Amino acid sequence: MNMNNTKKSRILVIDDEISITSSLKRTLELSEYQCDTANCGRDALRKLRAENTFDLIITDIRLPDISGIEILDIVRRKYPFLPVIVITGFASIESTKEAIRKGALDYLPKPFTSGALISAVKQALRSSTKRCQYKDLYQIVYQSTSMEDIMDMVTRVGRTESTILITGESGTGKELVARAIHRNSRRSTQQFVTVNSGAIPEGLLESELFGHVKGAFTGAITTSHGRFHVADGGSLFLDEVGNMSLAMQVKLLRVLQDGEFSPVGSSDVVKTDVRLVAATNINLEQAISSKTFREDLYYRLNVIEIHIPPLRQRLDDIIPLSEFFLSRLAGSEHSRKLTLSSSVVSALLSYHWPGNVRELENTMERASVLCNSEQVELHDLPDRITCSKEDFPDLTPTAELVNLDSLLSSIEKHYITNALKKSGGNKTSTANMLGLKRTTLLARMKHYNIQKDKGNSQDE
Ligand SMILES: Nc1ncnc2c1ncn2[C@@H]1O[C@H](COP(=O)(O)OP(=O)(O)OP(=O)(O)O)[C@@H](O)[C@H]1O
Ligand SMILES: [Mg+2]
Repeated sequence: MNMNNTKKSRILVIDDEISITSSLKRTLELSEYQCDTANCGRDALRKLRAENTFDLIITDIRLPDISGIEILDIVRRKYPFLPVIVITGFASIESTKEAIRKGALDYLPKPFTSGALISAVKQALRSSTKRCQYKDLYQIVYQSTSMEDIMDMVTRVGRTESTILITGESGTGKELVARAIHRNSRRSTQQFVTVNSGAIPEGLLESELFGHVKGAFTGAITTSHGRFHVADGGSLFLDEVGNMSLAMQVKLLRVLQDGEFSPVGSSDVVKTDVRLVAATNINLEQAISSKTFREDLYYRLNVIEIHIPPLRQRLDDIIPLSEFFLSRLAGSEHSRKLTLSSSVVSALLSYHWPGNVRELENTMERASVLCNSEQVELHDLPDRITCSKEDFPDLTPTAELVNLDSLLSSIEKHYITNALKKSGGNKTSTANMLGLKRTTLLARMKHYNIQKDKGNSQDE
């Protein structure tokens, strides 16, 4: 990836019409970009393989041999950090949607002006440069627009002194984002101190945060500084803040309001200059209504809230993250960088990732240990990730003849069976889940001979 402004960005333009590729090439070169062209999918893939130095791809969706959507698929697997803009003809809303779902960064509906082209190119290169910087500097990898918004926020709040509350399920990257905020702030040369309020026993937390004087409690044989003292001038990351006792919440509120605290066993008032970043994976608003969390503290903490969505809601991040973990592992104890088979890609994208990015990281580590070839296959993944995919066909077109109708039928059957399982056999909710009328669902179940679930169906 070209991050050096003095070097021209390289763009590969793919379209079957030579007049289009040459006019786009002219426009891009006039704007100081380097441009290469391909007039069919195979040629494009050959160029990509031969010189993996492109910074951006612009591709038509309709190509004579391999469609732009397939090119997107391949790019996503092999070059997950390479941005793609698709060019779409009129009346191809469906394929545009599909392209965006498959990770295209942007689309240009035909006909478009040179101005629209250049502005889309600039925007795409800007976001991908930012992605690379976050990857290189903070080891944060993303492709989704929701993470892109979060990283924009990280850049903006880094410059402020506001207290920040990061919310999100376990393993979504809250601590990683907190570190990035610190490193983006004027405090970056000072300490980033973390405290996990959930992991420290209640009786010790106060002394851990504020320190204690000699003799403050049994075992306090010397005076000790707390984390607020250590973090002075820097940032303090307070993890699992939702688990703090009400008594501790009052003490924390004092630091936030007055910037001061007293060590345990002392009446001295100590001033501190700390930027607080708190995190929680519980819903603090609910905790407030159940009176386990103070409302005034919540408003103090929640000056700016950053919510990190679960991984299952940002599918675009799954493959780039997997590739990133595999290359990081290859750089350490394992020497070869593994690739993902297309059935593994489908399995990773269909799984619901309750443990979020941490679970994905562990899955890749396990796969790299088990894998005995160059490519991670389904059997290198744990059963929980693959079990619902057992009878699911591989969707990558091969050179073999495929009967599209029977392929689509098997997908339909698979979805209905799984949706039925998910809803415990309840046909009304299965029909809702699949956007079908109940009668249509029943007809298709009959057609595919899908057994009625004998589970806890309430609408038999
Ligand atoms: N966007 C990302 N890019 C790269 N690695 C990530 C990303 N998000 C999370 N990780 C990795 O996933 C793991 C979990 O992240 P982190 O500890 O920040 O999550 P968390 O939300 O604080 O989890 P918990 O709620 O369990 O404390 C870490 O190893 C982290 O490096
Ligand atoms: Mg954490």
